[in-house]
Formats: sequence, C-alpha cells, structure tokens
Amino acid sequence: MTTSPKLLPVHKRYDVTFSHGEGSYLFDNEGKKYLDFGAGIAVNALGHCHPKMVAAITSQAKKLWHVSNIYNGNELNNYAERLTSNSFADYVFFCNSGAESIECAIKMIRRYFFVKNQPHKNRIITFTGAFHGRTIATISAAGKEKYLEGFRPALDGFDNVEFGNIEAVKNAITENTAGILIEPIQGEEGIRVAEKKFLQELRKIADEKNLLLAFDEVQCGMGRTGELFAHNFFDVKPDIVGTAKAIAGGFPLGACLATKEAASGMTIGVHGTTYGGNPMAMAVASAVLDVMLEENFLENVRKVGAELKSELQNLHKKFPNLIEEIRGVGLMLGIKINEKIPNVEMTQKLINHGLLVIPASDNVIRVLPPLNINSAQVKEGIEKLEKSFLSF
Ligand SMILES: Cc1ncc(COP(=O)(O)O)c(C=O)c1O
Repeated sequence: MTTSPKLLPVHKRYDVTFSHGEGSYLFDNEGKKYLDFGAGIAVNALGHCHPKMVAAITSQAKKLWHVSNIYNGNELNNYAERLTSNSFADYVFFCNSGAESIECAIKMIRRYFFVKNQPHKNRIITFTGAFHGRTIATISAAGKEKYLEGFRPALDGFDNVEFGNIEAVKNAITENTAGILIEPIQGEEGIRVAEKKFLQELRKIADEKNLLLAFDEVQCGMGRTGELFAHNFFDVKPDIVGTAKAIAGGFPLGACLATKEAASGMTIGVHGTTYGGNPMAMAVASAVLDVMLEENFLENVRKVGAELKSELQNLHKKFPNLIEEIRGVGLMLGIKINEKIPNVEMTQKLINHGLLVIPASDNVIRVLPPLNINSAQVKEGIEKLEKSFLSF
C-alpha cells in the first residue's frame, strides 16, 4: 500500500504497512513478520499490545475517556503521585508530546526569573546537534538549520553552543542567562552520548551561576538507559525534565517534571492543556510504570543492552569496511555506517530481511528495541543484521 496523497507530504515513508503487532514483532498487511528494533522511535517500551497495557486501556475505555483539567481526575492524581514519587520531582505537568514537554520546560525557566523580578534573565543555553521537537520554540532552541529553514523568524532567547564543550558554556553565560537545556543522549543526531563529567559540570555551573538545568529525556528517558530516568544514569539531578515517547508505551503522553523551586513561577492560569493528563493516557502510563518498576525490568535493559552492544561490536569487527562505530548505552544504541552506503538504504535492506531499525543523522542506524526484549531476540536481530551486511 502506498501513502495516501491526502496526507500532508512531510513524512518520507518506507513502503511497508503494518496491520498488527505482538510483543517485539510487527506484521505487515501480507502477514510478513518483522522484529521491531525501532519501537516506533523509542516509544513501544513494552513492545506491541502488552497485555497489561491492553487491560488498562480497555478497562479505562469503559469508564471514562476525557475530563477537562478544570476538574480533578482519579487517574490523573494517582499517576502524578506515582510518577513523581519515583523521580526527583515535586511537580509534573502532563501534555501530549515530547515537544510540548520541552515547551513547558522553556516556559518554566523564563517564568522562574520573571516571578523573581529578574525578567532580564530569559535566555537559555542549548547545544549543537540537539533535537527538541518541531514547534517554533523547540526548533529555535535546537538551532539546527535543517529544521529552521523556511520557518524563520526563529524565536529569540537561545544561545546554541557546542555539545560537550564546557568552556563554550562558560563563555556563553551572561547576566541574561536563565538556564541550560540539554539532550543528554542525542538520539536524532546519531546516538551521541554526553560525558558524565560534562553533565555534572553543567550542574555545578548552574548552581554557581543561579541557572536552571533542564534535561530533554524525551527519547533517552523512561528506562532506555537501564535507569528509569536518564539523569539517574549520569548521576546528575536536573531541576526540570521533559519526557514522553516510552512513558505510555504508545499512547500519546508527555510530561514535564520539576522541583518545587524550579516550578515556582508556574501558578494558576499561566500554562495549560486540553488533553494533557486525560484518563486514558494516565491509565496506560500507570500500567507501563507498573511494569517498569517490576523487579528485573531495568536490570533486563542493562543486561540485554550489554549483550546487544557486545554482539554489535562483534559485527563491527566482522565488517570493518561497513561499520565505523558502535555507540550508545542500555538499549539506546547506534551503528555508524560507512558513508558509501546511505543509512536509509541500509534500513530498507534490513526491512527486506524482517528487521526494523531507525535511521538518524551522521549515517547512523538506531537500534531502539522494546525494553523487554530477551537474549534470543537479540540473537535473532544480530543474525538479520549480519545477513543484510553480507549482501553489501
Ligand atoms: C530528544 C527529543 N526531544 C523532543 C522530541 C519531540 O517529541 P515529539 O515528536 O513527541 O513532539 C523528540 C522526538 O523525537 C526527541 O527525540
């Protein structure tokens, strides 16, 4: 089936149409089975149609779908308590996407200094290579030409400096700087992992200079590193975290988490949402959190992630002319392919062999499987990769 001509042609789609999924597998309209090592770009954390998610959504669907945020919500209160009590945060704001969670983080940083009578502190330091979403604010924050082209004027208030360069951060700070926004593992850019020391230094600088530190964990958060939150993996406590994708395993949900202090400007009426935190999203997210908090779940991410990385490194040794580097942590891994073979071509070849991966910048293919995959599925994926590599 080809793409409908009625769809705004902004997405380039591979010529495959999925009809259903089960666990780590997807099935196309012809019944062909695919091992899903892309998980809808790090979304299907529990694979497809996990029984606990299905039970949660079907039971919720019979009870209540939507109530406005002008009322209290049982599911909303319950999940807000559960998520924050398993995090650094005192507060959470629910929205519907990653970009919205970052939008909230940006507004929170600006508002923090506004209510402290320092409205001149309104600029945010951001980093080259980051991806924060496709709204005007988030493309302006990331500052990447590819996403800004044709959409100017960009929103003012961001100072984009080199990822990983602590001196550049120090030099960019002025009396107008309010905060730092960083994607600690850059997913879209090709799985570029920040150094722990760099992130810890950012925390130190933020404390010294009275800045808020915000992490974009939309892609790398919610279990992908082998910790519930990516900042736990790096041993850094941010003031604000934006997350989404895996949080509800496929039901649209974003969350902006914050300390009480960082959120002190976010008072009644200054921000809001119609759908954010709706009962369906809360019920599914709660079921996902149940599973993620089960004993062995995060341990499995670390264990299977290490197996997968080591198998990928073996492939690197076998195909030195094809593979340039293996990157990443936990189950957020990247294979940098030699420039002579475009990663989109490699992705198509892998689709033909029944394996789904996600292309990224820098000619990388991202390996982002469901977080509950097992060792046998790792082996199966590696066999499919090897078969495809042999055909080049
Ligand atoms: C790090 C990061 N931030 C923000 C976003 C935007 O999320 P969404 O597409 O849900 O708006 C993404 C999406 O890929 C992302 O990877």
